[in-house]
Amino acid sequence: MTGAPVHDGEQVRPMGATAPRVPLLAMKQITKRFNAVEALVGVDFEVYAHEVVALVGDNGAGKSTLAQIVSGVLTPDSGIIELAGEPATIPNPSAAHAAGIATVFQDLALCDNLDVTANLFLGREATAGGSFLRDGEMEQTTKRILRDLNSPIPSVKTQLHALSGGQRQSVAIARTLIGNPRIVVLDEPTAALSVAQTAEVLTLIERLRELGLGVILISHNMVDVRAVSDRIEVLRHGRNNGSFDATTASYESILAAITGATSYIKGDRAY
Ligand SMILES: Nc1ncnc2c1ncn2[C@@H]1O[C@H](COP(=O)(O)OP(=O)(O)O)[C@@H](O)[C@H]1O
Ligand SMILES: [Mg+2]
Repeated sequence: MTGAPVHDGEQVRPMGATAPRVPLLAMKQITKRFNAVEALVGVDFEVYAHEVVALVGDNGAGKSTLAQIVSGVLTPDSGIIELAGEPATIPNPSAAHAAGIATVFQDLALCDNLDVTANLFLGREATAGGSFLRDGEMEQTTKRILRDLNSPIPSVKTQLHALSGGQRQSVAIARTLIGNPRIVVLDEPTAALSVAQTAEVLTLIERLRELGLGVILISHNMVDVRAVSDRIEVLRHGRNNGSFDATTASYESILAAITGATSYIKGDRAY
């Protein structure tokens, strides 16, 4: 049935995968409160290698809270996190980084007056013999990463202010790849972009999947989400409200889960 929620136990896997695989990240029954506000209640979420999972939901649904837990900015009140099948905690952003989780937040945090290479290495310049910056090495790494991403940036010496919105997003994504992450979290990467620039970024996201990463894509844009993701997870009022195979789910069924016209039945509990 087109658009039917994927229930527990029917995990969506890329075509051709046979043996059961362990998710890069599994979050089980995650709860997070801000005083009286229940931002997340019993949320389950997972992402596999070579997979783009979209996280969608109305404003206040809990998307950013979940992303911040994944990236170590927030810690959950309860629930279990597993990395590659092993119980784990992500107490702070450097723990997330060490665990191979990279996040591109919405504001990108790039410096307009610096070039592409400098932005990739911002705060973690390669050093040799103490304080020398190995410019050549950083430039080579930058070129390699942009080549890996098939990124259409003309030169690594271009200053950021001269780049388009789509190119800036690709610099922000390239920056995350410096640490060889396994999981990349993208918060609304196409929100401020034109149609052409959006296409560029979507191509980049597909490239991340080809490179074997697990991608968590937070987006309001259903067209983008359906174009690029393998699986769509809906949050509503801090709860799971549907899990869809992006290749078969109808726009209407996803929208119904977002707005609450349909509720998600998980096990024997209706939310
Ligand atoms: N730091 C915070 N303090 C208090 N309430 C918060 C905080 N962050 C988020 N919330 C609340 O938690 C809920 C989920 O927010 P959020 O995760 O930002 O949703 P989304 O990203 O889906 O729009 C909202 O009701 C929001 O107001
Ligand atoms: Mg948000």
